[in-house]
Amino acid sequence: MEDLFPIRRVDHIRHFVNNARSSAFYYQHTFGFDITGFYGLETGVKDEAGYLLEQNNLRVVFSAPLRPGHPMAEKIAYHGDFVQDIAFEVDDVDWAHATAVARGAKSAAEPHWVEDEHGRVRMAAIHTYGDVVHTLLNRDGYKGHFLPNFRPENQPGDSIGIKDVDHCVGNVELGKMNEWVKWYEDVLGFKNLISFDDKDISTDYTSLMSKVMASGNGRVKFPINEPAPGKKKSQIDEYLEFHGGAGVQHVALLTEDIVYTVSRLRARGVQFLSVPKTYYEMLTDRVGEIDEDIDVLADLGILVDRDDEGYLLQIFTKPTTDRPTLFYEIIHRKGAKSFGKGNFKALFESIEREQAVRGTL
Ligand code: FE2
Repeated sequence: MEDLFPIRRVDHIRHFVNNARSSAFYYQHTFGFDITGFYGLETGVKDEAGYLLEQNNLRVVFSAPLRPGHPMAEKIAYHGDFVQDIAFEVDDVDWAHATAVARGAKSAAEPHWVEDEHGRVRMAAIHTYGDVVHTLLNRDGYKGHFLPNFRPENQPGDSIGIKDVDHCVGNVELGKMNEWVKWYEDVLGFKNLISFDDKDISTDYTSLMSKVMASGNGRVKFPINEPAPGKKKSQIDEYLEFHGGAGVQHVALLTEDIVYTVSRLRARGVQFLSVPKTYYEMLTDRVGEIDEDIDVLADLGILVDRDDEGYLLQIFTKPTTDRPTLFYEIIHRKGAKSFGKGNFKALFESIEREQAVRGTL
Protein backbone atom coordinates (compact mmCIF):
# COMPACT_ATOMS: atom_id res chain seq x y z
CA MET A 1 0.00 0.00 0.00
CA GLU A 2 1.25 3.49 -0.83
CA ASP A 3 2.60 5.47 2.12
CA LEU A 4 1.13 8.97 1.77
CA PHE A 5 3.35 10.48 4.46
CA PRO A 6 6.56 8.52 5.03
CA ILE A 7 7.67 8.67 8.69
CA ARG A 8 10.87 6.85 9.60
CA ARG A 9 10.10 6.63 13.31
CA VAL A 10 9.03 8.50 16.43
CA ASP A 11 12.31 10.38 16.89
CA HIS A 12 11.68 11.49 20.45
CA ILE A 13 8.93 12.44 22.87
CA ARG A 14 9.33 15.83 24.51
CA HIS A 15 7.73 16.81 27.82
CA PHE A 16 7.30 20.36 29.08
CA VAL A 17 7.92 20.24 32.84
CA ASN A 18 8.45 22.65 35.71
CA ASN A 19 11.80 21.20 36.69
CA ALA A 20 13.62 19.24 34.00
CA ARG A 21 16.44 18.29 36.36
CA SER A 22 14.17 16.48 38.82
CA SER A 23 12.08 14.89 36.04
CA ALA A 24 15.24 13.57 34.37
CA PHE A 25 16.46 12.25 37.72
CA TYR A 26 13.12 10.53 38.40
CA TYR A 27 12.99 8.79 35.01
CA GLN A 28 16.67 7.83 35.23
CA HIS A 29 16.27 6.26 38.65
CA THR A 30 12.88 4.58 38.14
CA PHE A 31 12.54 3.78 34.42
CA GLY A 32 16.31 3.29 34.07
CA PHE A 33 17.05 5.78 31.30
CA ASP A 34 20.58 7.00 30.57
CA ILE A 35 20.89 10.77 30.69
CA THR A 36 22.85 11.41 27.49
CA GLY A 37 22.36 15.07 26.69
CA PHE A 38 21.79 18.49 28.26
CA TYR A 39 21.08 22.02 27.07
CA GLY A 40 20.72 25.20 29.07
CA LEU A 41 22.70 28.18 30.25
CA GLU A 42 25.97 26.20 30.07
CA THR A 43 25.40 25.49 26.36
CA GLY A 44 24.40 29.04 25.49
CA VAL A 45 20.61 28.62 25.75
CA LYS A 46 19.43 31.57 27.83
CA ASP A 47 15.79 30.87 28.61
CA GLU A 48 15.25 27.11 28.90
CA ALA A 49 17.01 23.95 29.99
CA GLY A 50 16.51 20.32 29.06
CA TYR A 51 17.76 16.77 29.29
CA LEU A 52 17.86 13.94 26.75
CA LEU A 53 17.15 10.48 28.16
CA GLU A 54 17.68 7.27 26.19
CA GLN A 55 17.00 3.56 26.56
CA ASN A 56 17.60 1.39 23.47
CA ASN A 57 15.51 3.01 20.66
CA LEU A 58 13.50 5.27 22.95
CA ARG A 59 14.45 8.93 23.33
CA VAL A 60 12.69 11.29 25.72
CA VAL A 61 13.41 14.98 26.30
CA PHE A 62 12.39 17.00 29.36
CA SER A 63 12.39 20.77 28.84
CA ALA A 64 11.76 23.52 31.39
CA PRO A 65 11.59 27.31 31.20
CA LEU A 66 14.29 29.26 33.05
CA ARG A 67 12.53 32.59 33.34
CA PRO A 68 9.09 33.86 34.36
CA GLY A 69 6.87 34.91 31.49
CA HIS A 70 8.40 32.36 29.11
CA PRO A 71 5.66 30.98 26.78
CA MET A 72 6.51 27.46 27.99
CA ALA A 73 5.90 28.54 31.59
CA GLU A 74 2.35 29.58 30.70
CA LYS A 75 1.63 26.21 29.07
CA ILE A 76 2.97 24.35 32.11
CA ALA A 77 1.04 26.56 34.52
CA TYR A 78 -2.13 25.64 32.59
CA HIS A 79 -1.62 21.93 31.86
CA GLY A 80 0.89 20.84 34.49
CA ASP A 81 3.78 18.73 33.21
CA PHE A 82 2.71 17.31 29.85
CA VAL A 83 3.79 15.67 26.61
CA GLN A 84 4.21 18.59 24.22
CA ASP A 85 5.87 17.00 21.20
CA ILE A 86 5.82 13.60 19.50
CA ALA A 87 8.61 14.24 17.01
CA PHE A 88 8.92 12.36 13.72
CA GLU A 89 12.08 11.68 11.77
CA VAL A 90 11.28 12.12 8.07
CA ASP A 91 13.21 11.92 4.79
CA ASP A 92 12.40 15.44 3.63
CA VAL A 93 11.30 18.05 6.17
CA ASP A 94 10.36 20.69 3.61
CA TRP A 95 8.18 18.27 1.64
CA ALA A 96 6.61 16.87 4.83
CA HIS A 97 5.79 20.30 6.24
CA ALA A 98 4.47 21.72 2.94
CA THR A 99 2.40 18.58 2.30
CA ALA A 100 0.94 18.50 5.82
CA VAL A 101 -0.01 22.18 5.61
CA ALA A 102 -1.50 21.74 2.13
CA ARG A 103 -3.61 18.89 3.54
CA GLY A 104 -4.93 21.06 6.36
CA ALA A 105 -2.37 21.01 9.20
CA LYS A 106 -1.61 24.21 11.08
CA SER A 107 2.09 25.07 11.03
CA ALA A 108 3.82 25.37 14.40
CA ALA A 109 7.27 26.14 12.92
CA GLU A 110 8.30 26.76 9.32
CA PRO A 111 11.21 24.64 8.01
CA HIS A 112 14.50 25.99 9.36
CA TRP A 113 18.06 24.90 10.10
CA VAL A 114 19.30 24.40 13.66
CA GLU A 115 23.09 24.22 13.77
CA ASP A 116 26.16 23.87 15.92
CA GLU A 117 29.81 22.91 15.32
CA HIS A 118 28.74 19.33 14.42
CA GLY A 119 26.58 20.40 11.50
CA ARG A 120 22.96 21.22 11.00
CA VAL A 121 19.52 19.61 11.32
CA ARG A 122 16.44 20.61 9.32
CA MET A 123 13.36 21.06 11.52
CA ALA A 124 9.73 22.16 11.22
CA ALA A 125 6.58 21.45 13.24
CA ILE A 126 2.81 21.12 12.91
CA HIS A 127 0.08 21.38 15.55
CA THR A 128 -2.09 18.39 16.43
CA TYR A 129 -4.72 18.08 19.22
CA GLY A 130 -4.49 20.33 22.29
CA ASP A 131 -1.09 21.91 22.81
CA VAL A 132 0.73 18.95 21.26
CA VAL A 133 2.90 19.34 18.16
CA HIS A 134 4.62 16.96 15.77
CA THR A 135 8.13 18.18 15.08
CA LEU A 136 9.38 16.99 11.68
CA LEU A 137 13.14 16.61 11.56
CA ASN A 138 15.97 15.19 9.49
CA ARG A 139 19.51 14.88 10.87
CA ASP A 140 21.11 13.07 7.90
CA GLY A 141 24.71 14.27 7.72
CA TYR A 142 24.64 15.78 11.22
CA LYS A 143 27.72 14.61 13.17
CA GLY A 144 26.54 15.45 16.70
CA HIS A 145 24.74 12.94 18.92
CA PHE A 146 21.16 14.21 18.98
CA LEU A 147 20.32 17.79 18.12
CA PRO A 148 22.37 21.00 18.00
CA ASN A 149 22.89 22.76 21.35
CA PHE A 150 22.71 19.52 23.34
CA ARG A 151 25.93 18.80 25.24
CA PRO A 152 26.73 15.09 25.64
CA GLU A 153 26.13 13.76 29.16
CA ASN A 154 27.29 10.44 30.54
CA GLN A 155 24.94 9.63 33.44
CA PRO A 156 23.99 5.99 32.88
CA GLY A 157 20.78 4.58 34.33
CA ASP A 158 20.17 0.97 35.30
CA SER A 159 18.11 -0.22 32.30
CA ILE A 160 14.81 -2.02 32.83
CA GLY A 161 14.78 -3.33 29.25
CA ILE A 162 12.53 -0.81 27.52
CA LYS A 163 13.15 -1.19 23.78
CA ASP A 164 11.01 1.46 22.12
CA VAL A 165 7.71 3.33 22.16
CA ASP A 166 4.81 1.04 21.17
CA HIS A 167 2.03 3.63 20.95
CA CYS A 168 0.99 7.08 22.25
CA VAL A 169 -2.62 7.68 23.21
CA GLY A 170 -4.42 11.00 22.87
CA ASN A 171 -7.54 12.03 24.79
CA VAL A 172 -9.75 14.48 22.92
CA GLU A 173 -13.00 16.22 23.78
CA LEU A 174 -16.47 14.67 23.40
CA GLY A 175 -17.40 14.59 19.70
CA LYS A 176 -13.84 15.33 18.52
CA MET A 177 -12.49 11.79 18.06
CA ASN A 178 -13.66 11.46 14.46
CA GLU A 179 -12.31 14.92 13.59
CA TRP A 180 -8.84 13.91 14.76
CA VAL A 181 -9.14 10.49 13.13
CA LYS A 182 -9.88 12.28 9.85
CA TRP A 183 -6.99 14.70 10.49
CA TYR A 184 -4.52 11.80 10.87
CA GLU A 185 -5.98 10.16 7.74
CA ASP A 186 -6.03 13.31 5.59
CA VAL A 187 -2.83 15.01 6.78
CA LEU A 188 -0.49 12.15 7.71
CA GLY A 189 -1.99 9.32 5.65
CA PHE A 190 -2.70 7.20 8.73
CA LYS A 191 -5.13 4.28 8.59
CA ASN A 192 -7.75 3.31 11.17
CA LEU A 193 -6.54 -0.08 12.46
CA ILE A 194 -9.21 -0.81 15.07
CA SER A 195 -12.23 0.94 16.55
CA PHE A 196 -13.75 0.44 19.98
CA ASP A 197 -17.15 1.82 20.88
CA ASP A 198 -18.86 2.30 24.19
CA LYS A 199 -20.12 -1.32 24.07
CA ASP A 200 -16.50 -2.56 24.06
CA ILE A 201 -15.27 -0.08 26.63
CA SER A 202 -17.81 0.43 29.34
CA THR A 203 -18.31 -0.47 32.94
CA ASP A 204 -21.31 0.10 35.16
CA TYR A 205 -20.28 3.73 35.46
CA THR A 206 -18.18 5.03 32.61
CA SER A 207 -17.52 4.53 28.96
CA LEU A 208 -15.33 5.82 26.20
CA MET A 209 -14.74 5.39 22.51
CA SER A 210 -11.39 4.82 20.86
CA LYS A 211 -9.91 4.49 17.38
CA VAL A 212 -6.38 3.29 16.75
CA MET A 213 -4.58 5.15 13.95
CA ALA A 214 -1.37 3.84 12.38
CA SER A 215 1.10 5.45 10.00
CA GLY A 216 1.55 4.22 6.42
CA ASN A 217 4.42 1.90 7.37
CA GLY A 218 2.63 0.84 10.59
CA ARG A 219 5.51 1.97 12.81
CA VAL A 220 3.65 4.81 14.52
CA LYS A 221 0.44 3.94 16.38
CA PHE A 222 -1.81 6.57 17.94
CA PRO A 223 -5.05 5.49 19.60
CA ILE A 224 -7.42 8.45 20.07
CA ASN A 225 -10.03 8.38 22.86
CA GLU A 226 -13.09 10.48 23.53
CA PRO A 227 -15.46 10.22 26.48
CA ALA A 228 -18.88 8.64 25.99
CA PRO A 229 -21.84 9.50 28.20
CA GLY A 230 -22.00 7.24 31.29
CA LYS A 231 -23.58 7.24 34.71
CA LYS A 232 -20.55 8.94 36.22
CA LYS A 233 -17.58 10.97 35.03
CA SER A 234 -15.31 8.90 32.81
CA GLN A 235 -11.54 8.75 33.17
CA ILE A 236 -11.34 10.70 29.89
CA ASP A 237 -13.51 13.49 31.33
CA GLU A 238 -11.28 13.52 34.41
CA TYR A 239 -8.21 13.88 32.17
CA LEU A 240 -9.77 16.66 30.07
CA GLU A 241 -10.76 18.57 33.21
CA PHE A 242 -7.39 18.34 34.96
CA HIS A 243 -5.20 18.71 31.86
CA GLY A 244 -7.32 21.54 30.51
CA GLY A 245 -8.32 20.03 27.17
CA ALA A 246 -7.00 17.43 24.77
CA GLY A 247 -3.57 15.91 25.31
CA VAL A 248 -1.45 12.78 25.55
CA GLN A 249 -2.97 10.35 28.05
CA HIS A 250 -0.40 7.56 28.06
CA VAL A 251 2.75 6.41 26.37
CA ALA A 252 3.17 2.63 25.96
CA LEU A 253 6.73 1.38 26.32
CA LEU A 254 7.77 -1.86 24.64
CA THR A 255 9.71 -4.51 26.55
CA GLU A 256 10.77 -8.05 25.62
CA ASP A 257 10.73 -9.23 29.25
CA ILE A 258 7.81 -7.71 31.10
CA VAL A 259 8.42 -9.70 34.30
CA TYR A 260 11.92 -8.22 34.56
CA THR A 261 10.81 -4.70 33.59
CA VAL A 262 7.88 -4.57 36.02
CA SER A 263 9.85 -6.23 38.85
CA ARG A 264 12.49 -3.50 38.54
CA LEU A 265 9.92 -0.71 38.37
CA ARG A 266 8.11 -2.03 41.44
CA ALA A 267 11.39 -2.40 43.35
CA ARG A 268 12.07 1.26 42.59
CA GLY A 269 8.71 2.37 43.93
CA VAL A 270 6.69 2.92 40.75
CA GLN A 271 3.00 2.34 41.45
CA PHE A 272 0.64 0.46 39.15
CA LEU A 273 -3.09 -0.02 38.78
CA SER A 274 -4.19 -3.27 40.36
CA VAL A 275 -6.86 -5.78 39.39
CA PRO A 276 -8.68 -8.18 41.73
CA LYS A 277 -7.19 -11.66 42.29
CA THR A 278 -10.24 -13.15 40.54
CA TYR A 279 -8.77 -11.79 37.28
CA TYR A 280 -6.05 -14.45 37.49
CA GLU A 281 -8.43 -17.27 38.41
CA MET A 282 -10.17 -16.80 35.05
CA LEU A 283 -7.03 -16.06 33.05
CA THR A 284 -6.25 -19.47 31.56
CA ASP A 285 -9.87 -19.94 30.47
CA ARG A 286 -9.75 -16.60 28.70
CA VAL A 287 -6.30 -16.60 27.05
CA GLY A 288 -5.26 -20.27 27.00
CA GLU A 289 -1.72 -21.49 27.62
CA ILE A 290 0.99 -18.87 28.00
CA ASP A 291 4.75 -19.11 28.62
CA GLU A 292 4.70 -17.12 31.86
CA ASP A 293 3.95 -18.36 35.37
CA ILE A 294 0.52 -16.98 36.28
CA ASP A 295 1.45 -16.71 39.96
CA VAL A 296 4.34 -14.41 39.00
CA LEU A 297 2.05 -12.31 36.80
CA ALA A 298 -0.52 -12.11 39.61
CA ASP A 299 2.18 -11.00 42.08
CA LEU A 300 3.27 -8.22 39.74
CA GLY A 301 -0.27 -7.33 38.55
CA ILE A 302 0.54 -7.96 34.87
CA LEU A 303 -2.47 -8.39 32.55
CA VAL A 304 -2.75 -10.71 29.53
CA ASP A 305 -4.88 -10.63 26.39
CA ARG A 306 -4.99 -12.73 23.26
CA ASP A 307 -5.94 -11.98 19.65
CA ASP A 308 -5.81 -13.97 16.39
CA GLU A 309 -2.05 -13.51 16.07
CA GLY A 310 -0.82 -14.24 19.56
CA TYR A 311 -0.97 -12.70 23.00
CA LEU A 312 0.29 -9.64 24.82
CA LEU A 313 1.14 -8.76 28.41
CA GLN A 314 0.57 -5.26 29.74
CA ILE A 315 0.37 -3.14 32.88
CA PHE A 316 -0.44 0.51 33.57
CA THR A 317 1.20 2.86 36.05
CA LYS A 318 -0.76 5.24 38.19
CA PRO A 319 -0.37 8.85 36.96
CA THR A 320 3.26 9.98 37.18
CA THR A 321 2.21 13.61 37.63
CA ASP A 322 0.32 15.26 40.51
CA ARG A 323 -2.66 15.82 38.23
CA PRO A 324 -4.49 12.61 37.21
CA THR A 325 -3.31 12.99 33.63
CA LEU A 326 -0.22 11.29 32.17
CA PHE A 327 0.60 7.64 32.85
CA TYR A 328 2.61 4.85 31.24
CA GLU A 329 1.85 1.40 29.93
CA ILE A 330 4.46 -1.35 29.81
CA ILE A 331 3.65 -3.78 26.98
CA HIS A 332 5.23 -7.06 25.89
CA ARG A 333 3.97 -8.44 22.57
CA LYS A 334 4.09 -12.14 21.85
CA GLY A 335 2.58 -12.04 18.38
CA ALA A 336 -0.47 -9.94 19.27
CA LYS A 337 -0.72 -6.62 17.44
CA SER A 338 -3.83 -5.44 19.33
CA PHE A 339 -4.23 -3.31 22.46
CA GLY A 340 -5.66 -5.50 25.20
CA LYS A 341 -9.40 -5.18 24.61
CA GLY A 342 -10.03 -8.13 26.94
CA ASN A 343 -8.49 -6.14 29.79
CA PHE A 344 -10.43 -2.92 29.31
CA LYS A 345 -13.21 -3.74 31.78
CA ALA A 346 -10.88 -4.84 34.59
CA LEU A 347 -8.67 -1.81 33.95
CA PHE A 348 -11.43 0.75 33.90
CA GLU A 349 -12.89 -0.64 37.10
CA SER A 350 -9.43 -0.25 38.59
CA ILE A 351 -9.21 3.36 37.37
CA GLU A 352 -12.68 4.03 38.80
CA ARG A 353 -11.52 2.83 42.22
CA GLU A 354 -8.67 5.37 41.97
CA GLN A 355 -11.10 8.06 40.79
CA ALA A 356 -13.40 7.36 43.73
CA VAL A 357 -10.47 7.96 46.10
CA ARG A 358 -9.72 11.23 44.27
CA GLY A 359 -13.39 12.25 44.44
CA THR A 360 -13.51 12.62 40.65
CA LEU A 361 -15.81 9.74 39.68
FE1 FE2 B 1 -2.20 1.64 25.51
